Amino acid sequence: MRKAVPADIPELVRVINRAYEAEAFCIAGDRTHAEEVASFMEAGVFLVLPDGADRLRGSVFLRREGEIRWYLGLLSVDPDFQGQGLGRVLVEGAEAFCRREGGKFLDLTVVSARQELFTFYGRLGFSPNDVLPFRAPEKLKVPCHLVKFTKALLPALEL
Ligand SMILES: CC(C)(COP(=O)(O)OP(=O)(O)OC[C@H]1O[C@@H](n2cnc3c(N)ncnc32)[C@H](O)[C@@H]1OP(=O)(O)O)[C@@H](O)C(=O)NCCC(=O)NCCS
Repeated sequence: MRKAVPADIPELVRVINRAYEAEAFCIAGDRTHAEEVASFMEAGVFLVLPDGADRLRGSVFLRREGEIRWYLGLLSVDPDFQGQGLGRVLVEGAEAFCRREGGKFLDLTVVSARQELFTFYGRLGFSPNDVLPFRAPEKLKVPCHLVKFTKALLPALEL
């Protein structure tokens, strides 16, 4: 796994939009575009899994939210490579990155219609702790909200 650079933007857009086709039943349109990925890259960091050639198999976005908190977003594995442990590799790599940067808590949000992700993130040690409105209600095809999940990155005694 490595940090993405601006030359990765077209592949990031491809992988994220392909992965997020999983949300097409509840959210209209592409998940992202090049300008948004470029602005996210300035605000935070994308970690990527290259395939050895010029393609990416997966990616995850991280942004510092304060002294000890980080936000994880846009977790994406190319559908051709899902179910092989790459999602876990990306989340665990993201956790390690945040720990190295002094992070103690990692937050993320899940669209309420994607209940299979509650299980996925639960298996990875995240717990639900809040609900928020969906960021772009005009794109919703069915009523949805966001469920916020958090994971402590250190044992309680070390927090
Ligand atoms: C969610 C996503 C990143 C998972 O990636 P993946 O490579 O298929 O996941 P992994 O193979 O690493 O699975 C990790 C664990 O989660 C479990 N898991 C994977 N998909 C799951 C699902 N749909 N429901 C329940 N559990 C699931 C696996 O069994 C595995 O458990 P284990 O390691 O304890 O055996 C991938 O499906 C994806 O890109 N989805 C579309 C984009 C998306 O929904 N992103 C998250 C938005 S918040």
